[in-house]
Amino acid sequence: MEQHNREDVLILAIETSCDETAASVVKNGREVLSNIIFTQIALHTKYGGVVPEIASRKHIEKINQVIEEALAEAGVGLEQITAIAVTQGPGLVGALLVGVAEAKAIGFAAGIPLVGVHHISGHISANYIEHRDLEPPFVCLVASGGHSHLVVVRDYGEYEIIGRTRDDAAGEAFDKVARAIGLGYPGGPKIDRVSREGNPEAIAFPRAKVAENEYDFSFSGVKSAVLNYLNACRMKGEEFSQADVAASFQKAVVDVLVEHSLHAVKAYGFDKFAIAGGVASNSSLRGALERECAGQGIRFFCPSPLLCTDNAAMIGTAGYYEFIRGVRSGYDLNAVPNLKL
Ligand code: KG4
Ligand code: ZN
Repeated sequence: MEQHNREDVLILAIETSCDETAASVVKNGREVLSNIIFTQIALHTKYGGVVPEIASRKHIEKINQVIEEALAEAGVGLEQITAIAVTQGPGLVGALLVGVAEAKAIGFAAGIPLVGVHHISGHISANYIEHRDLEPPFVCLVASGGHSHLVVVRDYGEYEIIGRTRDDAAGEAFDKVARAIGLGYPGGPKIDRVSREGNPEAIAFPRAKVAENEYDFSFSGVKSAVLNYLNACRMKGEEFSQADVAASFQKAVVDVLVEHSLHAVKAYGFDKFAIAGGVASNSSLRGALERECAGQGIRFFCPSPLLCTDNAAMIGTAGYYEFIRGVRSGYDLNAVPNLKL
């Protein structure tokens, strides 16, 4: 067993909000001792998206094994764990419940305090893991399958949402367009890959602006434009280029994400900018933001792709900062599918 100081804070983190069953041990907030992810992607692929009932059942089957692996790889026994952090929401209610029930059961049996964590706070906190010098305040773009938010991170665990999507989340648009052009699920990584072979200027898809709030997003227009383009091709009996559609769609989404983000960073007067969530692993988005930030003297932070998509290490980091602020959850902790940040 590894030696840790008595003052070390060791968090066992659990994440089951969607289709990854994940557990991790995080030391003192930023040192990941283990990060085990069982991805259910293969199980959901044939249905073209996540089937909530299947996700919950698989979480139940896998959760104990994933937690045991996380503890074993970290070389830590339950008696050394300071607190258990668990994703409380938002997410699929049945999936969240598995993690929450598991955390409460272990916490109760072993007498370990519990901390409920917001999934998006987890995504944002993924940035702290590999960037030891990153501290709030900064602006963060959160783009995942369920969310597209521009967030001012005032302090650890203190967030102000300044922009949000009016309709589809960025990742949702990637998934829907991927399905429409025959790439299947999960759409984001497939569009990312296929786009490398395509011309991003081939088709002019719209870049939507939301009149009432310059930081808000809308992605349903670009999605509809892609569907209309595909229909028009079919009507004319023309083949469409999968790679050109993918690249042009991706460029339209990336342009808007980059423009809104940099506008917010400058308007709020910050010199640090971070990205988070599954879409943050998109290579074109990362490249564009790196270039733009470098050109404008803004320090740019992004987690490595494995820490962008769902994982428990990010929940451990967010949970650590909640824990040291004195936050504790009771045994009445519940899954909240639409939990507010
Ligand atoms: O954060 P995440 O793993 O789960 C949620 O909390 O939603 O994000 C999943 C989303 C999916 O919509 C997926 O298509 C998208 O992130 N995604 C990507 C990429 N990798 C994952 N989107 C664009 N490019 C990628 N490379
Ligand atoms: Zn997520």
